[in-house]
Amino acid sequence: MEIKSIKIGNIEVPNNVFLAPLAGYSSAEMRVVCTLLGAGLAFTEMVSAKGLKYNPKATNELLYTYPEEKIKAVQLFGEDSEVLSWAVKSEYLQKFDIVDINMGCPVPKIFNNGEGSALLKDMNKASKIIESLAKCGKPVTVKFRIGLEEGNYVTKEFAKMCEDSGASLITIHGRVRTAIYSGDVNFKEIESAKNAVKIPVIANGGVFTKEDANVLMDRTGADGVMVARGAMNNPLIFSEITESKSALTFKEAVLMHLNLLEKRLGSERCAVIFRKQMAFYLKGVRDSKKLKEKAFSATSANEMRQIILNYV
Ligand SMILES: Cc1cc2nc3c(=O)[nH]c(=O)nc-3n(C[C@H](O)[C@H](O)[C@H](O)COP(=O)(O)O)c2cc1C
Repeated sequence: MEIKSIKIGNIEVPNNVFLAPLAGYSSAEMRVVCTLLGAGLAFTEMVSAKGLKYNPKATNELLYTYPEEKIKAVQLFGEDSEVLSWAVKSEYLQKFDIVDINMGCPVPKIFNNGEGSALLKDMNKASKIIESLAKCGKPVTVKFRIGLEEGNYVTKEFAKMCEDSGASLITIHGRVRTAIYSGDVNFKEIESAKNAVKIPVIANGGVFTKEDANVLMDRTGADGVMVARGAMNNPLIFSEITESKSALTFKEAVLMHLNLLEKRLGSERCAVIFRKQMAFYLKGVRDSKKLKEKAFSATSANEMRQIILNYV
């Protein structure tokens, strides 16, 4: 794929290969590692605007950032344009350069609240949200799915609505809500949206290798790709896709992730949080089942570090 910089509003992003928002995973540490390895932009996990208003202490922890994150992008979810605007203007989001709105989350708890992918069936409401956030002065981007169920696609209309309402970029996950994360990506739907708007379009879904990124770009004509699960077990995917010299080996990347987390949260909490991360990092490793069990019983960062040093 052609690697090129992308303009999001007035912000120039160094390249067009992004790390996706990943609840429970795209922490500040993962973002720093992936950016160092070549990701052009990395999003926080989805953060509840309501949560920020009514339970700021817990929610604010999700908004931790490092100075190494040169361009900071936050993803919010919510359905109330007033609460969302409040969140964007609040002290908690001052440090972020770009605000993304989640209009694709399929999870029932979110959907039944009218949030995430529920907004696909209420274009007026979605438009009102984008319009009011765009007025807050930061570039606003939208991540959405192609529809709620197979055969009932909203991609092109929704993309146009995002553009008309003031979005600076859209990311399209080429699956419907009912598919969750499985099945083929619908290239045609992403392509139809790309041809209908002038703002940059990022294609998302099923990128696990450089070849997958090439196919997704070729078949959709998109301006860039967003990698999600493909980065969870292999952060080096960004240097592979961008064909840049990898700043770290795989082992060094995993160790850097652990070390940063330990420094921020202390040894014990770091070990507990890092367990689920290790389940991904150990995927291709020999004896991974036994090692995962070992990682899941680790109670200190040092124990975790020994597993990485000896086996990864
Ligand atoms: C564990 C997990 C957490 C996710 N969290 C978010 C999220 O917070 N916000 C969001 O927009 N999408 C979220 N997604 C969806 C991904 O960003 C992406 O759209 C989806 O996984 C498809 O890309 P892939 O096929 O490359 O994995 C999540 C996906 C997974 C697997």
